[in-house]
Amino acid sequence: MSEQLRVGMVGYAFMGAAHSQAWRTVNHAFDLPLSARMSVVCGRDENAVAAAATKLGWESHATDWRAVIARDDVDLIDICTPGDTHAEIAIAALAAGKHVFCEKPLANSVAEAREMAAAAAVAQTHGVRVMCGFNYRRVPAVALMRRMVEAGRIGTIRHVRATYLQDWIIDPEFPLVWRLRKEVAGSGALGDIGAHIIDMTQFVTGQSITSVTALTETFIKSRPLPSASSGLSASGDGSARGDVTVDDAALFLARLDGGAVATYEATRFATGRKNGLRVELNGSLGSIAFDFERMNELEFYDGTRPTAEQGFARILVTEPDHPYMAAWWPPGHLIGYEHSFTHEVRDLIEAIGTGQDPTPSFADALQVQLVLDAVSRSAETSLWTEVDPVLQPV
Ligand SMILES: NC(=O)c1ccc[n+]([C@@H]2O[C@H](COP(=O)([O-])OP(=O)(O)OC[C@H]3O[C@@H](n4cnc5c(N)ncnc54)[C@H](O)[C@@H]3O)[C@@H](O)[C@H]2O)c1
Repeated sequence: MSEQLRVGMVGYAFMGAAHSQAWRTVNHAFDLPLSARMSVVCGRDENAVAAAATKLGWESHATDWRAVIARDDVDLIDICTPGDTHAEIAIAALAAGKHVFCEKPLANSVAEAREMAAAAAVAQTHGVRVMCGFNYRRVPAVALMRRMVEAGRIGTIRHVRATYLQDWIIDPEFPLVWRLRKEVAGSGALGDIGAHIIDMTQFVTGQSITSVTALTETFIKSRPLPSASSGLSASGDGSARGDVTVDDAALFLARLDGGAVATYEATRFATGRKNGLRVELNGSLGSIAFDFERMNELEFYDGTRPTAEQGFARILVTEPDHPYMAAWWPPGHLIGYEHSFTHEVRDLIEAIGTGQDPTPSFADALQVQLVLDAVSRSAETSLWTEVDPVLQPV
């Protein structure tokens, strides 16, 4: 029996369920230096968190995250709560010497993200590890996309085209859930789903966004207050309304440091699009595209082939030599959304067990936060806006 990594998870709704699935599965799918143990799940409501512990497979439950951090039998804190809580929980956990796995976006502001990255840098000198949960990096087709770009298969990248399209708030009577309140969520479509395509495009291209010009829009300015604010599924009673204080949609152009130009669109008003995450790269030798709604596939255009044979090819990313796929099924047997989280915790456990820093680090996630901030500033001024550096001038 290998040594254990004892996990305490805070928050048990959407991401809590996805992370629980990952922690439950990872020991059985991968050979790892440490065995994940689901020690304790934490929430604010005693009955609800007790029920979640049973349903999701946790050994115990708690109602105070500070008490979870104080426990000697917890090695890692997994943060699955809204953005307004990330900094406080993560910094307290790091100070107590716990590894931290924190959902994206890292924080609600650059100031918080800088504090978190600084706390992580100090903790790292004592062997404490951190990771931010940009799970789409761990979709095998996305990891393969990066591998093909690194191998030069599409040459010099000229264009990056990224969209993340949802439609879950097109009904003006959909209630004012936490994702629509700036003080809890930080921003709207921008930080929630725009952050994913920022991280993903920088990951697959190996290039960083240096400047942006942006617009944001809030189509529905006020909504019914929810009867119980519990994420996507809350329902309003219609009697009282509150202001929407975040963007419904964010669009921006960007320049990347490797010379590519890019377009980004993140919206919750793309009627009919449920989780339409698409990234296309056009390079000097070819093109490559990923669409999450066909997440086991990549489209690849190899411009070096004879003209008579050219055309977009569909790569089915289910071969054992594709990233992560050796752990799963025979070729052609597909995997799903939840596997991206299992792959995330697989990489996290591997890094902790072998004494390395996992990625994306808090510094990487701070850089995404700096892009989000530049987009927000540009949307206010309508000017091209530089992305501030991760390292501040001394
Ligand atoms: N990686 C992804 O694809 C992805 C998808 C959705 C959400 N997220 C991120 O995950 C985080 C959580 O989002 P979600 O969709 O799971 O939200 P959710 O509303 O479904 O769940 C939030 C959970 O946090 C709990 N919570 C809230 N405040 C708390 C507090 N002060 N102390 C203890 N528990 C508290 C709630 O009770 C609930 O269990 C956010 O940062 C979000 O951006 C990431």
